[in-house]
Amino acid sequence: EKGGYASFMLKEIAEQPRAVADTLLGRVDAEGVLTLDEVRIPDAVLREADKVVIIACGTAFHAGLIAKYAIEHWTRLPCEVELASEFRYRDPILDPRTLVVAISQSGETMDTLMALRHAREQGARVLAICNTNGSTIPRESDAVLYTHAGPEVAVASTKAFLTQLVACYLVALYLAQRRDAKWGDEIGDVVRDLARVPDAIERVLADMEPVRDLARSLKEKETVLFLGRHVGYPVALEGALKLKELAYMHAEGFAAGELKHGPIALVEDDLPVVVVVPSPRGRSVLHGKIVSNIQEIRARGARTIVIAEEGDEEVAPYADHLIRIPVVPTLLQPLVATVPLQVFACELATARGNEVDQPRNLAKSVTVE
Ligand code: F6R
Repeated sequence: EKGGYASFMLKEIAEQPRAVADTLLGRVDAEGVLTLDEVRIPDAVLREADKVVIIACGTAFHAGLIAKYAIEHWTRLPCEVELASEFRYRDPILDPRTLVVAISQSGETMDTLMALRHAREQGARVLAICNTNGSTIPRESDAVLYTHAGPEVAVASTKAFLTQLVACYLVALYLAQRRDAKWGDEIGDVVRDLARVPDAIERVLADMEPVRDLARSLKEKETVLFLGRHVGYPVALEGALKLKELAYMHAEGFAAGELKHGPIALVEDDLPVVVVVPSPRGRSVLHGKIVSNIQEIRARGARTIVIAEEGDEEVAPYADHLIRIPVVPTLLQPLVATVPLQVFACELATARGNEVDQPRNLAKSVTVE
């Protein structure tokens, strides 16, 4: 049951620290060595793989887009991410050295299932990342890594998404370890950083009142735009998808670097624009660029809603609303940056009188193509 929460969605948002911790549990030993026993693909196959292809739909597709950054960075293997519904219709190049990763909460999504069948027919190995034990997608895959989010009842995916991300990071690290990627030595650091993420999410959740107030104040708006760069770009897409499906508003996510190639024409007075800001550390080039983007849209009247790391003072003067997230390594930032966007969409939908657990026209498990 809802355990005192107004909706399953709110309950599932609140469960995220535990869901993330459970998905990490027992998969890393004291030395930081990953022990993914469920992955039954021989090491030789993992070593000889020359490409990773991720297939998924909706929110799971966004997890895949983020995974690409981690997989390519940590393993140096090329990684493609494709909507499962498009995949088999374009005659994709697949062979026994292709490792396909199929991501699905339900394990029953027909588009993803048909794409994985196509991949296996071409001789590729398929690893499923799935939240539902014994469902069709893991049964038809060569191997499975289960996410331990627990049952997700609300139609909009929240805790399943964060655990899909964790599973993707684990797969990336596991591949790096098995393939002795040059980066291999640092795996222990990332594993320790991942272990601290549940606390970081807890801190985000403890401070959501201003996000709720903001969401309620926007209930008459028609459009909200979302901008991000690097791993913040798929986070922007996910924020927009949540708002569409729950609040029935026009919402679009863009890569911030694309603004001047078109989307900036949409900016008008008091248009709410949510911006996911990369960490000012490390990739400070991107940070500076997004700060300029925020200035550009604000100069054209946008109401800027800025999600930025604690201690990022440079961006503060340009934020009409500032949402702080804890400092975590850049590649892991989606695990904390997505949470306020979930709360934002849920609250805005509620303020508009919508039923958040059962949005109109949507089904939890899409078993037709
Ligand atoms: C969005 C949402 C959907 C699913 C998509 C894939 O909140 O829930 O976009 O992510 O239908 O579903 P699964 O992961 O079950 O394959």
